[in-house]
Amino acid sequence: MRAATVVPGDPDSAGVSELPGPTPQPGELLVEGLLAGMCATDREVAASTHGVLPPGHDRLVLFHESVGRVLHAPAISGFHEGDFVAGVVRRPDPKPCGACAAGEWDFCLNGEFTERGIKGLDGFGAQRWTVEPRFAIPVPAALGELGVLTEPTSVVAKAWEQVELIGRRSFFAPRRVLVTGAGPIGLLAALLAVQQGLEVHVLDRVDDGPKPDLVAELGATYHRDVMAIGFEPDVVVEATGSGEVVFEVLQRTARNAITVLTGISGGDRTVPIPAGAINNELVLDNDVVVGSVNANLRHYRSAVQALAAADPEWLSSLITRRLPLDKWPDGFSGGPHDIKTVVELQ
Ligand code: BGC
Repeated sequence: MRAATVVPGDPDSAGVSELPGPTPQPGELLVEGLLAGMCATDREVAASTHGVLPPGHDRLVLFHESVGRVLHAPAISGFHEGDFVAGVVRRPDPKPCGACAAGEWDFCLNGEFTERGIKGLDGFGAQRWTVEPRFAIPVPAALGELGVLTEPTSVVAKAWEQVELIGRRSFFAPRRVLVTGAGPIGLLAALLAVQQGLEVHVLDRVDDGPKPDLVAELGATYHRDVMAIGFEPDVVVEATGSGEVVFEVLQRTARNAITVLTGISGGDRTVPIPAGAINNELVLDNDVVVGSVNANLRHYRSAVQALAAADPEWLSSLITRRLPLDKWPDGFSGGPHDIKTVVELQ
């Protein structure tokens, strides 16, 4: 079978490898890979700010965003041949720490977790992959290939759960949400906010291409200038990873606001920040800033529910580029109008 592979730290190694088809371990599912989604983490794995080879391997099968169809399922697995599934990214650490033992591996304490396609485990960018049923998420047939959005949506579902949990510290009745960044994470965060009945605003730097329309189709408002938003959000979901945007936004939130940071900043750029003013804003307004990464099973399940309740046409429009397997490295060079690039594995 063919697979998208890379040696972490050597972007020139990105290509397609002929590998032996995987043999499912007892109890595991054998899956025909349909689509793999690309995201900035894949670039980091190739460039190696991130990315660890599986022990004894000389290359890593890439991609952690997946959808496939079950080819073979053990009788007691709860899955059947032909079912659509998405794989879970993270596996608890083998020790395990308290968080992993509680199934909350997204809060792993010792960093010894592994992640498919990222850290120490082969990913889902292969024509065949195997997965333990416990880490396979059933995707409704009506969603089908759109199940490739399950993993990014799980990250967003976790971010929204953080907002809800932190909001319980006191009276909290959020009304206006600002999502910064109209990439896949930002747009999916906006979708979940709209589903909660909130007034949603999305900020991005582009003023053409599909993003403004996708935001409008959600019934949300599109903005380009963080200084000219004209209101103070109760909740911010930050999905640009830009230090400038983060610190601009932190100075413009409402009282008791919750800001969830989901984006990773590339490079080592520094930005001057008005530290005292930001400190005062956070303290005097009871503001909370929280980082959020990865997702556990609870978040994957809510992700599938959110996707199943969304307009499939809107979801399809998030997929702006489809690459055949042998062209997958082209996905590393995207333009500002690209939202989600997927790789066709068959
Ligand atoms: C993935 C997460 C993962 C994180 C760090 C993200 O792109 O969506 O599941 O934990 O990268 O490796």
